[in-house]
Amino acid sequence: MQTAKELANDYRKITVDPIAGALGAEISGVDLNNLDDAAVAEIRRALLENNVVFFRDQEFTPATQMAFGQQFGDLNRHSYVKGLDEYPDVFRIVKEPTDAHHFGNTWHTDLAYEEEPAMATILYGMDIPDAGGDTMFTSLYAAYDALSDGMKRMLGELNIVYTNGNTYGKDAKRFKTGVAKDMDVAQAPEVKEVVHPLIRTHPETGRKALYLSTTHYSRLDGMTEAESKPLLEQLCAHAVKPEFTCRFKWGAGSVAFWDNRCTMHYAVNDFPNARRIMQRVTLQGDKPI
Ligand code: OGA
Ligand code: MN
Repeated sequence: MQTAKELANDYRKITVDPIAGALGAEISGVDLNNLDDAAVAEIRRALLENNVVFFRDQEFTPATQMAFGQQFGDLNRHSYVKGLDEYPDVFRIVKEPTDAHHFGNTWHTDLAYEEEPAMATILYGMDIPDAGGDTMFTSLYAAYDALSDGMKRMLGELNIVYTNGNTYGKDAKRFKTGVAKDMDVAQAPEVKEVVHPLIRTHPETGRKALYLSTTHYSRLDGMTEAESKPLLEQLCAHAVKPEFTCRFKWGAGSVAFWDNRCTMHYAVNDFPNARRIMQRVTLQGDKPI
């Protein structure tokens, strides 16, 4: 098997520098508003190999961020978070100095509560605190690979129930602060459940991942919440071992592009008196199998 460093040297259009052992790489030498087909193909390969890639000093408008995303797939329009008036497929994640709640402040993978969750997310840093507000990522491939054969076999039989209710139901915190603070609780959607395999096979790499989204799950399919809780909590604790993670410190103009099919992420809420503004485009994914 090639080492990460050898793979990293195998690109012509971009430079790829892994930032941790399990996942994550910084890509340099490209302007994301000006890519040819070969550069797009290399970025896609770097994403598949590193699961999350980061770029610095980019300049996205809503339109150019959409155009960047469309080179990799179809855009997803969020079911519950309102987009920009003129660009409904783009939304901003704004945390004001006075906000307590921070969007994404628990380990999750985007849109796990949808039948067809997000393939990838492209997040652009617009206004970044001097310190704090990092995003952490964990590899669900690494989490799967580290399980015993017996555990892999057992989990391979299980399905997990996800719900939109935890984050968008009428009791969700985000109606008080956070991205939905302008939304009326009366607009809270009907709670809807979907069932996904607990172990999913990545459609492009063929690798297996422990498909967890701690924010969004309800229970194991066919079991009660009480019965599911000990195993799911144990798996969640396992999945975020420091060895499986990386952490990105944002600057204005940074871009993170992550694969939601094999990672979780966590927005660190450690900047109580600062503003943070991010702009997001999401790529549509397939039904997990
Ligand atoms: C997201 C998210 C994390 C962050 O955009 O899906 O979880 O650090 N954001 O803002
Ligand atoms: Mn997220």
